[in-house]
Amino acid sequence: QKARIGVTGLAVMGRNLARNLARHGHPVAVHNRTSARTKALVEEFGGEGTFLPAETPERFVESLERPRRLVVMVKAGGPTDAVIDEFAPLLEPGDMIVDGGNANFADTRRREAALRERGIHFVGTGVSGGEEGALLGPSIMPGGSAESYEALGPLLEDISAKVDGTPCCVHVGPDGAGHFVKMVHNGIEYADMQLIAEAYDLLRHAAGLAPAEIAEVFRTWNTGRLESYLIEITAEVLAHTDASTGKPFVDVVLDQAEQKGTGRWTVQTALDLGVPVGGIAEAVFARSVSGHAALREAARGLPGPSRTVMAGSGFADAVEKALYASKIVAYAQGFHEIQAGSAEYGWNIDLGAMATIWRGGCIIRARFLDRIRAAYEADPETPTLLTDDHFAEAVGDAQGAWREVVAAAARIGVPAPGFSTALAYYDSLRADRLPAALTQGQRDFFGAHTYRRTDRDGSFHTLWGGDRTEAGA
Ligand code: 6PG
Repeated sequence: QKARIGVTGLAVMGRNLARNLARHGHPVAVHNRTSARTKALVEEFGGEGTFLPAETPERFVESLERPRRLVVMVKAGGPTDAVIDEFAPLLEPGDMIVDGGNANFADTRRREAALRERGIHFVGTGVSGGEEGALLGPSIMPGGSAESYEALGPLLEDISAKVDGTPCCVHVGPDGAGHFVKMVHNGIEYADMQLIAEAYDLLRHAAGLAPAEIAEVFRTWNTGRLESYLIEITAEVLAHTDASTGKPFVDVVLDQAEQKGTGRWTVQTALDLGVPVGGIAEAVFARSVSGHAALREAARGLPGPSRTVMAGSGFADAVEKALYASKIVAYAQGFHEIQAGSAEYGWNIDLGAMATIWRGGCIIRARFLDRIRAAYEADPETPTLLTDDHFAEAVGDAQGAWREVVAAAARIGVPAPGFSTALAYYDSLRADRLPAALTQGQRDFFGAHTYRRTDRDGSFHTLWGGDRTEAGA
């Protein structure tokens, strides 16, 4: 018997993906660099389906039916290249290598182009949902050729999460499109997490609530428009008590957030594409600030306002509004980046389809994504989610409270970079005139960089060092 698909790299994500495939009735070949893991998988979970363990790459490749579908679940970067170098020589034209790691989309484009020359399909695939998602149904974002999706799509759709019967898996677009979209997914994940963290911080320091009380607030929010996986687990984490000290768990965890790189890439890529993603950038920077222990220690005594508990009743509702509005901004920025990446690389990504496959399985799964899907359905060309009727109304209703929350944060000295930057973005977009006109004047003054006028075409320069007449064409 041959396997329909194979998984190499049996750390937790690879193992769970292989089990998911087997549980869905797909015979799956399994391989790991050290074969102890392969053995352990078959011993422990062999009853879940048909596993074909292989000790060597050659045996692994031989055990796959053709065209071969080979899923690589190893660390992004060097380890992925090493596995490709090892397996590609054993494959034949028409075979497929699926990279399910969190690869950088530029690496995926490079690998796809190199393997395409040898007739091998390289399918950079975003997989979201953590360990549990991989086992029970992740959100899957495959790139690569349309031809490869014909052979892989049914399998991937089968093991993906489903929402209203619709699989959370779709062909995103050619070459690196899948990993690009997964990268932006993670950037949005960072922003969402930062906004939730700020909401918690404000409820704690402005409203004086204890973690367990804040957990209840999040539980309530999770029954409304904020309903999402991240809000749900936030309540769980906040309600948890540390066993060894009896303190709230959140008070015994070192307050230095780590990151593995996808959020940073989202911002770096946005800078290259010229897309303003302040909400995601502030989330990356907030983690970075938290990690600068020595810097924070040096600055700890700097003066600030007294952090008196000041918020009255209704504050939690205001925070809910600020959170919802800021979240809309973060998603609007992320979708703008996908739109720009798609245009730059000719991917033709269907934005509504991305919202659709994020409704289930992934870390940012949320009721809200159905609204985004609907927004793109109503107008696939919408320049920003903020102008969609539903979102424009929601933000319009929330903006008063949003401003109050940002002002309260500034007054009591609780950092709220996510809420603040989101509001600034909103106000920038809706402004009649921006002070960018002054910036242009300054640039022209010191560097003769020229400016355009509101009333005439062409580019102009004022003779600032001379008689200040205007030259222009
Ligand atoms: C997912 C997650 C997953 C992983 C992140 C965490 O979609 O399942 O995003 O990919 O948990 O990489 O990223 P950081 O370690 O950078 O927070």
